[in-house]
Amino acid sequence: MKVLAFNSSPHKDNGNTALILNPFLGGMREAGAEVELFYTCDLDINPCRGELNCMLKTPGKCHQNDDIQMLTPKLGADVLVLASPLYIWAVNGQMKNLMDRMVPLLPPNKGRVILVSSCGFWGLENFDPLLFHIKAICHNIDRVFAGALLRPHAVYLKMMLEAGAQVQDIPAAAQEAGRQLVVDQTINPKTLSIVSRELVSLEAWNDRVKQRFGPTADSSQ
Ligand SMILES: Cc1cc2nc3c(=O)[nH]c(=O)nc-3n(C[C@H](O)[C@H](O)[C@H](O)COP(=O)(O)O)c2cc1C
Repeated sequence: MKVLAFNSSPHKDNGNTALILNPFLGGMREAGAEVELFYTCDLDINPCRGELNCMLKTPGKCHQNDDIQMLTPKLGADVLVLASPLYIWAVNGQMKNLMDRMVPLLPPNKGRVILVSSCGFWGLENFDPLLFHIKAICHNIDRVFAGALLRPHAVYLKMMLEAGAQVQDIPAAAQEAGRQLVVDQTINPKTLSIVSRELVSLEAWNDRVKQRFGPTADSSQ
């Protein structure tokens, strides 16, 4: 199984998104998958010029001479992993820029797409617009949306891991999700729910936001 993964966090391996992505990819590798990971901030990908050549004149090929040429032969991978921090309820700009250039080039091979994301706010519902978007893309390009590893209030995970708190089950579940995808072709929803599990109550979260940003801060999310 060939896996093509992208991490669009500017923090790369030191970011919150990588706390979930890296064990997930590790689980896939351990189960025998061939995984290639790219960091968008290391790629030279210009914005789409909107010429539509890749759809109309030269299907499957973009004429801009940048790293999309190096990536194009890899797009037939069995699994595509899109990992992005949540920026303004969406993928971040680096990922969107890559998607604009890459999605029209993806062969409709019924391959699987996995979303990995982390966000700052407390609730899982903050990912809803992003999930809607990625599922719509999969539907339109004949790819199978195979699941999302979502980590809300992600900074808590980082703090708790650094403090040695009992949160190792979260990266372990991400790793197990990678193993399941390779071995079973699917990820158990219970495993995904551990990745997203609550680390702090909403009340305690709100208290912390008020301490940091003042008593009038809107922390309802
Ligand atoms: C410009 C910007 C926009 C953000 N927008 C949101 C948002 O809409 N919702 C949210 O919950 N967190 C938001 N965040 C917080 C990030 O999603 C969160 O810190 C994430 O875990 C960062 O991942 P990383 O460390 O891998 O880059 C935003 C952060 C930045 C810098």
